[in-house]
Amino acid sequence: MSDEKANVTRRAVLAGALSGAVAGCQAWPNARAGGPRGQKSFLWGVATAGHQIEGNNINSDYWVMENVKPTLFAQRSGDACDSYHRFAEDIGLIAAAGLNTYRFSLEWARIEPNEGQFSEASLDYYLRVVDCCHAKGIRPVVTFNHYTTPAWFAASGGWLRADAPQIFARFCDRAACKIAQGIEFACTLNEPQVDRLLRGQSFAASLLAAKTKMQAAAARRMGSDRFEPYLTVMDSDQYLQPLIAAHDAGFAAIKAARSDLPVGVTLAVVDFQASEPATRIDEIRNHTYAAWMEAARRNCDFVGVQNYNREVIGPNGTVTPAKEAEKDFLGREVYPEALGNAVRYIHEGTGKPILITENGIVTNDDTQRVRYIDGAIASMRRVMTEGVPVLGYIHWSLLDNFEWLLGFHPHFGLVAVDRKTFARTPKPSLAHLGQIARRSPLG
Ligand code: FCB
Repeated sequence: MSDEKANVTRRAVLAGALSGAVAGCQAWPNARAGGPRGQKSFLWGVATAGHQIEGNNINSDYWVMENVKPTLFAQRSGDACDSYHRFAEDIGLIAAAGLNTYRFSLEWARIEPNEGQFSEASLDYYLRVVDCCHAKGIRPVVTFNHYTTPAWFAASGGWLRADAPQIFARFCDRAACKIAQGIEFACTLNEPQVDRLLRGQSFAASLLAAKTKMQAAAARRMGSDRFEPYLTVMDSDQYLQPLIAAHDAGFAAIKAARSDLPVGVTLAVVDFQASEPATRIDEIRNHTYAAWMEAARRNCDFVGVQNYNREVIGPNGTVTPAKEAEKDFLGREVYPEALGNAVRYIHEGTGKPILITENGIVTNDDTQRVRYIDGAIASMRRVMTEGVPVLGYIHWSLLDNFEWLLGFHPHFGLVAVDRKTFARTPKPSLAHLGQIARRSPLG
């Protein structure tokens, strides 16, 4: 076993036994009374993910796929929102609006650009982001993996590698040692079951063929015989157990670095509804959530709920929304009440406190976004009065950003970003959410 692996194993073993930080981890210089570690109030914030905003994430698997032919990506991420350089401005916008929380993610590809080789400079970068949050009174919530992985990882089998959980835990260990003392919540994986929402359906055969060709081109680019990204265009059982094992290992590694840091996983949660009382939706719910709810019961201090919509199931499958139903930019039904139902369902299934780590709407009409926010937060408050413990509401997203396969056209942001100058222009919805946070009796 390499020294590095032995270290992780040692820390993971210690995780169960130790209460307190493991010697050798970064002490947080700015921990102070009344600072982030002292706050226990409701979190009101916004979320982003590294690859979607930072720009030039050139060592990642998604970067490779965006830059080969054929590709499924409508656009390249390129400079994204240049948040790599503009994070202070971004965090300043959050604080100025009156929000208190920023959920962002670490780019594993920057921190471990080659297998086993860690970049101290990149770790220091994320330390500066955390520090900047503290300086502006913002509470950091950090996702250790938000879909993207290093290109070398994908080219060596990705999550399907037999030792993927240990490899991920080693990364979590390094990152947690650097930043865990300064953050408030850690999420191991982002939506590791999002593929299951497709339930046996998949993209059209032509798209699947294009995906296979894209992977082959990416493998060639890497001089490898395979390329396995977490890119969900089909429902597959292949990833389920490997990702649960990765979550377990990541959880142990982060806890070993700081045992009192709340660690959880974020789940993609659709509000499944039966069109008639007789319609059975248990099977669909079990397929989508059961294994992960069990994992959460075992190894989570909280569960991150990420909800955007509902799906109504009838005797013949998914019911198409009525013509007159309100629609978003992608033509999907707008149904803010789904949020409360999603939160209740995951709490009932796990018994854990819920942190709403994503909720939002894709639209170019900001008045529609404001209405959506009001509806979603009203549904959250309703389930809270039923007694469901909700720790916070984190909106997706701070910025109009790189929406994966769809490129930059779908706009989820509370802030518009000029694609040439990267100038940020807050939309009225940012001030609106900030006002809710300022006035909230929860805050
Ligand atoms: C979620 C993803 C996030 C973003 C939103 C719109 O599923 O976690 O990165 O793409 O959808």
